Amino acid sequence: MRLILLGAPGAGKGTQAQFICERFKIPQISTGDMLRTAIKEGTELGLKVKEIMNSGGLVSDDIIIDLVKERISQPDCENGFLFDGFPRTIPQADAMKEGGVKLDHVVEIAVPDEEIVNRLAGRRVHQPSGRIYHVEHNPPKEPGKDDVTGETLIQREDDQESTVRNRLSVYHEQTAPLVDYYQQWAAQDPENAPEYHRIEGVGSVTDITRQVKEALS
Ligand code: AP5
Repeated sequence: MRLILLGAPGAGKGTQAQFICERFKIPQISTGDMLRTAIKEGTELGLKVKEIMNSGGLVSDDIIIDLVKERISQPDCENGFLFDGFPRTIPQADAMKEGGVKLDHVVEIAVPDEEIVNRLAGRRVHQPSGRIYHVEHNPPKEPGKDDVTGETLIQREDDQESTVRNRLSVYHEQTAPLVDYYQQWAAQDPENAPEYHRIEGVGSVTDITRQVKEALS
């Protein structure tokens, strides 16, 4: 099982990825999480990408493509993987296609912009594990604490409203064209292209998970 979760920032990719990866026993490859770890650890990569990430812009295609190629060559990716937040530009999608990386599914989670601004204001994250909560829609058992470890949850630096609006405009300009890219590929070459599924991402987390499971079954 090799799949892409496509959608705007805050559409619920990370939330659904948790369920899909558990069910199919595949690793979640979140380029955003990999970059945030690099920033936290103060690596050369982290220093390079910190400013652009905090402003809501995209990191350069070369950096991302190298990062992903290296990650999918690891043994835990042999039986599949889930891309969360990648590809995000046409050149990134082309790099996978030209590199012969076969994909089974693209799942688009579609959510209107105004809903997204509200969701990201209430998002809380357990940084070491990547577990995601929302203060109202998906609250932890104890406010501000991770359900598994009891550690403190944080708010991401790029979840401020002005940054979220910038991330949304970057999404519409650079990432949304991938919807057409994968739909056209599926129509023209169904044998080799990944199957395309569009899920309306507004509703309870459980209901969206059910729709994603149906699409993948
Ligand atoms: P990244 O970490 O990938 O962020 P993103 O795509 O902007 O997506 P998010 O993680 O913000 O949202 P999500 O869709 O996972 O939503 P979530 O499940 O958390 O990227 C960050 C930055 O890294 C980029 O801006 C860029 O700079 C850089 N970067 C990363 N990849 C790159 C690439 N390939 N190329 C270039 N640069 C790259 O849900 C959001 C909230 O909503 C949560 O609180 C959740 O609990 C809640 N929620 C989820 N589902 C529902 C629901 N159904 N109803 C109500 N609330 C819900």
